Amino acid sequence: MKFLLGVLFTVFVAIVGMFAVVSSGIVNVGADQEHSPMMYSLLETARNRSIEHASKDIKVPDLEQVDMISSGGADYKDMCAGCHLSPGVEKTDLSASLYPKPPNFTKADIVKRYQTEDGAKQSFWVIKHGIMASGMPAWGASHDDDRMWAMVAFIRSLPELNENQYTMLTTRLDDDMLDMSFDGEMDMTGDGSEMQH
Ligand code: HEC
Repeated sequence: MKFLLGVLFTVFVAIVGMFAVVSSGIVNVGADQEHSPMMYSLLETARNRSIEHASKDIKVPDLEQVDMISSGGADYKDMCAGCHLSPGVEKTDLSASLYPKPPNFTKADIVKRYQTEDGAKQSFWVIKHGIMASGMPAWGASHDDDRMWAMVAFIRSLPELNENQYTMLTTRLDDDMLDMSFDGEMDMTGDGSEMQH
């Protein structure tokens, strides 16, 4: 009985202590200060286990199709490259100022884990749902699953692309550009220059 009271008392003191620390305002929430190593590994474990658990039943489509890879490119450039970088770009204002740091998807050792079935599921889940309080947005609010799978497919090939290949795969061919490319009248110069988009 005495032991049980001791345990209850310790738990009570711990809860009151935690409440006092939280409400005192001494916890620094600034993004320019790193977590302690213990807190970092606690949060990282919680994040990884949560993503593994939540993504385990997702069905992965065929991500090797070429059109799947190329259709994810323009979305990646518009919505992700500012944080997750692109060939030849080592940092941006966003990538440098966020904490935790957005992983650099041009690096083969980082992207390697998405090339497995489980890794593909996990990256899809993160793209769709985001990661709370990290700067990683939940794109599922505005994009359908097909577009998000195309981005997973694109990220898996990103480390193999050089700057020119990246530009080619991420340029959005909008209606104006297609009109210019295929407009017969513009071919009067005969040098085909309008075809070089
Ligand atoms: C405003 C910055 C920002 C943008 C824009 C952004 N992300 Fe992120 N993303 C992050 C941060 C920060 C993390 C790391 C979160 C963490 O470590 O908990 C992250 C994590 C991820 C991860 C998981 C990485 C891992 O640790 O396994 C994936 C996958 C991802 N982002 C994909 C995308 C894609 C695809 C887009 C575009 C549609 C995108 N992100 C746009 C900031 C961003």
